[in-house]
Amino acid sequence: TEAADKTEGGVLVFGTNAEFPPFEYVGDDGEPDGFDVALIKAVGEKLGMEVQVENMEFDSLVSSIGNRIDGAIAGMTVTDERKEQVDFSNPYYEAVQYVIVAADSDIATADDLKNKTIGCQLGTTGMFLAEDIEGATAQTYNRAVDAVNDLVNGRVDAVIIDKNPAEVFNTKFEGKVKIIDGAEFGFETEEYAIALPKGSELVDQINQALEDLKADGTFDALVAQYIGE
Ligand code: ARG
Repeated sequence: TEAADKTEGGVLVFGTNAEFPPFEYVGDDGEPDGFDVALIKAVGEKLGMEVQVENMEFDSLVSSIGNRIDGAIAGMTVTDERKEQVDFSNPYYEAVQYVIVAADSDIATADDLKNKTIGCQLGTTGMFLAEDIEGATAQTYNRAVDAVNDLVNGRVDAVIIDKNPAEVFNTKFEGKVKIIDGAEFGFETEEYAIALPKGSELVDQINQALEDLKADGTFDALVAQYIGE
């Protein structure tokens, strides 16, 4: 396949969706930047392969793995549904969904989300949660920031999105929104991992590279640089 040829040529193409700060965003030079981008480049260095990162829609990442791209790194949560289509590396980050609401909103518990209009990014675990809320309407966006804009404009009642991007948007829209830990709504913790073609040799190689990056301090340095924890 084309993807296999790229691997042999020493170039790996990873898809991301650069609408998810601090894990991925478009940098000043117009190229994807962020924790995931830096991490996968560091992984490439360990493997002795050049890594290119391609910005695409989040919802098309999984189905592009093994054809258009060699893998995806996109703050992607490991789920059973996705595992039917792809293999995942070992998890590299723990996350949880947060709820963003208007600064003056009364929404505080799971019951308060019932029958509400909830903004979320298409194809994300936030969308799957929104779809499961009784009577609620999941309003989907290709870019999470557009969901937050609609929240600020009163077009949706809440946005469900991962913790770290929620914190970034809370700062960006300071005073207009507030964020609530999804644990208050019963949302469970999630784990991010790198998605690869089913049965790919890269799974073991990337797991080894991740271990090496943790052992030599690179991983923690990237966390400090991009996430600040
Ligand atoms: N963690 C969530 C999921 O896996 C959201 C990921 C969104 N990532 C992105 N780069 N836009 O569904």
